[in-house]
Amino acid sequence: VITIPVVIHIIHHGESIGSGSNLSNERIFEQINTLNEDYSHTNDDADQVPQLFRSVAGDTQIQFCLIQKDANGNPHPGFIRYEYGTIPNFDYIEDVIKKETSWNSRKFLNIWSVKMPEEHVLGYAYPPIPSILNTTFDGVVIAHDKFGNQPGSKGRTATHEIGHYLGLQHPWGSMESCNNDDGVQDTPSCRSPYYGCPAFPQVSCGTTDMSMNFMDYVDDNCMHLFTKGQGEKMRNILSNERAALATGFEFICNLTTSSSERAINQFSITPNPSEDVFSILIPELNHTDDLQIEIFDISGQRMEARSFEIRHLGETVQLSLGDMPNGTYILKARHGEEIFVNKLLLMSRH
Ligand code: ARG
Ligand code: ZN
Ligand code: CA
Repeated sequence: VITIPVVIHIIHHGESIGSGSNLSNERIFEQINTLNEDYSHTNDDADQVPQLFRSVAGDTQIQFCLIQKDANGNPHPGFIRYEYGTIPNFDYIEDVIKKETSWNSRKFLNIWSVKMPEEHVLGYAYPPIPSILNTTFDGVVIAHDKFGNQPGSKGRTATHEIGHYLGLQHPWGSMESCNNDDGVQDTPSCRSPYYGCPAFPQVSCGTTDMSMNFMDYVDDNCMHLFTKGQGEKMRNILSNERAALATGFEFICNLTTSSSERAINQFSITPNPSEDVFSILIPELNHTDDLQIEIFDISGQRMEARSFEIRHLGETVQLSLGDMPNGTYILKARHGEEIFVNKLLLMSRH
């Protein structure tokens, strides 16, 4: 089973917790539970899958955890509340809210709950494509009134959008025609979306359609399954384009893991010991902020504070400490949400 670490951003407008867009903690836990049930085919309405499709219904072997630690190993509830003014349009979500709130999108699935600027939009997500991967745009946006269990919602807008995020298309494919499909073999080819709660069977393109698939447009209480083929396709994305997501969970999802697992956040310093200049390779950079570096001596006194502009991924910064006394120092580097800590050994010849 692959477990995806999730961080949830609740974007609200100053309501008290539990009202309007400032969703209660309970909605958040419900949403994670729904995802885990839907993705393992243990949803309470799985028995409503028609006989015809029972053999292709599947457990995707994908699960979701609300993170228990941040990237630095400190305890974290897995969700954050932010107050914003009215959201005027989608650009504001993409260019302001996401830029200000996103966590490293290679390691975390960011989910935003927002009051949508257009009421008919339930949610949206980006597929795993190069222009989106490792940017602050990556993740899933869900209308606050479709998040968790609410009137008219069983939390399946997130189920559907995460399907897109993991590479799934709608069952009808990219065009409403029988000449293209979703590239998944065990979802029957169909012409166009279903809405509401269609009676079974429905036929198009010469076969009985799977209108109750999570990737169709039916109501939440009328969608019941992913197929084995869809599960395979998503897991394939998690082994390739989104492989970094699957590596963090031991560390991030489990409060009791050992401190040695913090190594996933370690960056390389060469040479170390050094006589003067340390070259620091910072991995996993995903923010456009500056990199803040602080050097402490072993008594905890701050000796140096420097800021570096980071222009591209995997950048190396050079730190010259030749004018400081020989000894062991603690280096703390902060970049966006990430904090890296490591030891430096300075052995100059003066
Ligand atoms: N229309 C949206 C999309 O295509 C979401 C549909 C979700 N459907 C639902 N019953 N929750 O991404
Ligand atoms: Zn969709
Ligand atoms: Ca298909």
